[in-house]
Amino acid sequence: MSDPRKPIVAIDGPAGAGKSTVAREVARRLGLPYIDTGAMYRAIAWLAIRCGIDLDDAKELAWLATYTNLEFAGPPDKPQIYVNGYMPGEELRSPEVSQGASKVSAVPGVRKALTRQQQQLGRQRGCVMEGRDIGTVVFPDAKVKVFLTASPEERVKRRREEMEAKGQPCNPEELHQQLLERDRRDAERDVAPMKPAPNAVLIDTDGLSIPQVVDRIVALARRTAP
Ligand code: DC
Repeated sequence: MSDPRKPIVAIDGPAGAGKSTVAREVARRLGLPYIDTGAMYRAIAWLAIRCGIDLDDAKELAWLATYTNLEFAGPPDKPQIYVNGYMPGEELRSPEVSQGASKVSAVPGVRKALTRQQQQLGRQRGCVMEGRDIGTVVFPDAKVKVFLTASPEERVKRRREEMEAKGQPCNPEELHQQLLERDRRDAERDVAPMKPAPNAVLIDTDGLSIPQVVDRIVALARRTAP
């Protein structure tokens, strides 16, 4: 059973639905730590690529996820992940690592290792945790569960704006293809596929501003307060 003094707010949904921006702000408003579980899968993919580990080698990847030290540190609204003490930063957002993260996250041994770490991290002080399986697998008894969606067109648009703001080159068609491929892989995998928990609140963010989405989730969390 979860501790009511350490509430867990689970925010799941596909890439580009606005989870990170929303989850960060919800965490700030509720005074809870923010945990980005996607960064943990990206960190394992990043390390595997650097170490020359074949992304189809499930055994090696499970070993890597089990023995790699992942920690979050830095400002509460923008925590950075450290992989064995090293901060990969923006390298985690490259297209190669994004596709790699989707691959490694389908490996049962990787999920088992990271799920355990996520449960430990989240239980310490409560949290706002974002991912794909937080409401279904990591914290099925979370106080608040939200599944954010948006149309593929809107999600591509947001990713494009994000990349352009960082001065990264992007090809919208390629982005669209990659997004759909990642969605398909995340939703169709055997272990912990991306899907809304039966008791999750679905929010379609098309046409909603970030503050509107944040307000809804904060209100939901306050309504369900002990
Ligand atoms: O949220 P993101 O794009 O940073 O996630 C990177 C990849 O990790 C994505 O393909 C889905 C996967 N992931 C997952 O399977 N389960 C999670 N809880 C979080 C992310």
